[in-house]
Amino acid sequence: EDTVTTSTPKRIAVTGAAGQICYALLFRIAKGDVYGPDQPVILQLLDLPQAQDAVRGVVMELADCAFPLLVETMVTDDPATAFRDADAAFFVGSRPRGKGMERRDLLSANAEIFRAQGRALNETAKRDAKVVVVGNPANTNAMILAANAPDFPNENVTSMIRLDHNRALTQLATKAGVAVAEIDRLAVWGNHSPTMFADWTEATAQGGKLPDMIGDDAWYRDTLIPNVARRGTAIIEARGASSAASAANAAIDHMHGWIHGTGGKWMSMGVHSNGEYGIPEGLMFGVPVICANGTYERVEGLTFTDFQREMMARTIAELEEEREAVSALL
Ligand code: NAD
Ligand code: LMR
Repeated sequence: EDTVTTSTPKRIAVTGAAGQICYALLFRIAKGDVYGPDQPVILQLLDLPQAQDAVRGVVMELADCAFPLLVETMVTDDPATAFRDADAAFFVGSRPRGKGMERRDLLSANAEIFRAQGRALNETAKRDAKVVVVGNPANTNAMILAANAPDFPNENVTSMIRLDHNRALTQLATKAGVAVAEIDRLAVWGNHSPTMFADWTEATAQGGKLPDMIGDDAWYRDTLIPNVARRGTAIIEARGASSAASAANAAIDHMHGWIHGTGGKWMSMGVHSNGEYGIPEGLMFGVPVICANGTYERVEGLTFTDFQREMMARTIAELEEEREAVSALL
């Protein structure tokens, strides 16, 4: 109880606060799922002017939860105000896709948002703030955000591919008959889009290699990889709206792993490419990382089969096309 009242609160900026992901996300942040059960938090919520009433309703509900860790909730329609002194920022606000759309169809609708918000981030956030972009197309939005925040470290701008990682974990665990927590060294590479590559090559469970335990390469190539890549679409078709609670959960896993470490385990994160593994420099690209002491380290030294190289090339090509399409904003 003492620590709850004495440690300095962490300021967490969240955009798109009136939206469906945030309706799942904010309550879990306020409960302590990101910074832990002893760390007070301040929520700094951003949404558009026309969404302010809806945000106020969410704030009433947050108040009605009487979360011991939530010391203050601030609401604004001004990005620079929302990001001021932030320790962490979740960029959720943007348009979601509907049936029959691909995430890249959101490129022009959402790119401008990330340019403006990059400038605001540059102006007012703490230099060591941890940033995750959830709004689609997440990788390219994150690239735009970082490019428009030149005084903010590139390394601290990441995009979310953890939902895809979690989707793959459950499918692999079910197929292998192991617990999700037993799986390590899974990677989801590239774009959060149909070209993403859920890669089991290095994956382990119960001291063995997962590909050997499952022993079904056709299932891997023809079922697992496309099912993970198409899961967002399957949810939109079933629910009539894009994933929300699972997306919020993945954003929390992403940030929690980054802040508290992953205990030596791999997790997939969209990070700025420095050219490793032939990934063009500057792309925001899903890679396996290991987090410790509040930072992430890219997993290095992997060698690729022809199949892996082919899959990587596909998602690299798509991200390069997206970069080309928004080059005016970079
Ligand atoms: P939603 O439409 O329910 O909510 C979006 C909110 O963002 C709305 O309240 C809207 O007013 C707000 N918004 C729009 N422009 C804004 C701006 N410039 N500044 C601040 N707020 C703004 O959508 P949602 O279901 O919550 O999804 C949000 C985004 O997350 C979508 O782009 C969706 O595709 C994406 N998403 C990504 C993943 C992932 O794995 N990366 C998973 C699920 C959803
Ligand atoms: C998802 O993967 O569920 C989200 O990116 C939403 C979408 O458009 O697929």
